[in-house]
Amino acid sequence: MTTTRQTGALSFFKDMHPPTSRFREDVIEGLGKPQKAIPPKHFYDARGSALFDDITGTQDYYVTRTELGILDTIAPEIAAKAGAGAVVIEPGSGSSVKIDKLLTALDSPAGYIGLDISKEHLKAACEDLAARFDGLSVGAICADFTQPVPLDDLPVPDGKRLVFFPGSTIGNFEPDAAKALLETIRGWLRPGDALLIGADRVKSAEVLENAYDDSQGVTAAFNLNLLTRINRELDGDIDVGAFEHQAIWNPDLARVEMHLVAKRDIEFTVSGQRFSMKAGESIHTENSHKFTVDRFAALAASAGLDVRQHWSDTRGYFTLYWLERA
Ligand code: AVJ
Repeated sequence: MTTTRQTGALSFFKDMHPPTSRFREDVIEGLGKPQKAIPPKHFYDARGSALFDDITGTQDYYVTRTELGILDTIAPEIAAKAGAGAVVIEPGSGSSVKIDKLLTALDSPAGYIGLDISKEHLKAACEDLAARFDGLSVGAICADFTQPVPLDDLPVPDGKRLVFFPGSTIGNFEPDAAKALLETIRGWLRPGDALLIGADRVKSAEVLENAYDDSQGVTAAFNLNLLTRINRELDGDIDVGAFEHQAIWNPDLARVEMHLVAKRDIEFTVSGQRFSMKAGESIHTENSHKFTVDRFAALAASAGLDVRQHWSDTRGYFTLYWLERA
């Protein structure tokens, strides 16, 4: 059953009641594995989100700056392709800078729909957007977009749909999960609708590793903050100072891996459970997959999507893809 309600300036707010964060379960399960691992979505508590914003401002993390530059350059072309009265759908509604650029460039967009697992973040982001774009019909769906989200029952305005998924967030997913996510998005598209998605490119190990281990130490703080969050929220006693941040390019799997490496043999308790690590052993905290244009097109094709056009910066560091149903 679908229930909608008016929420402030929103034209609809649909709560699919996604399962609340499995932080405790993921951490306990992940620390019990032979290669300890915690999913990267748990980085983003208030401090983690602020640190991520700081990362995007560092010189070494070229990703955000490069994508914004491409968006500036191609904005008129995107507007022409989308036409007048498009409806923008944003899974994981994120940076206001990017969505503002897109909405400002488009010719009288008919609507915006934000989709996010965090109800509070989603509400705040969508209400802010509704205030900035007076007259734009703004809807919000609280859902886990890694699960199928049926748009059919919802009051989505008429118009060509443009799904916007910037930031190379797709790179955080394992290949199978990335394909599944693209299939979910494909389900929202009708013939002529499009997905505009950003994906970071394969490049030299040096540039990649510096981007994930910036000289100001912001990414190190971001990674280590996960341990602070565990201590605070899961009754942990981890000596954060006994760990160091590591970012390594894995060329075989085309991904930058982030780890928290124990500097000495260590034991700790989380949520009443005892864990121990040897010096040099690590907790794997993130994979950030990088794509050649061909590999990305192959991934898209595996999900029934066609690359109709793509745009890169002059260095070939990052690419935005325009995909439609194959
Ligand atoms: C938000 C997933 C796109 O992988 O580049 C940045 C997260 N991690 N620095 C990325 C991140 C370390 C970022 N994404």
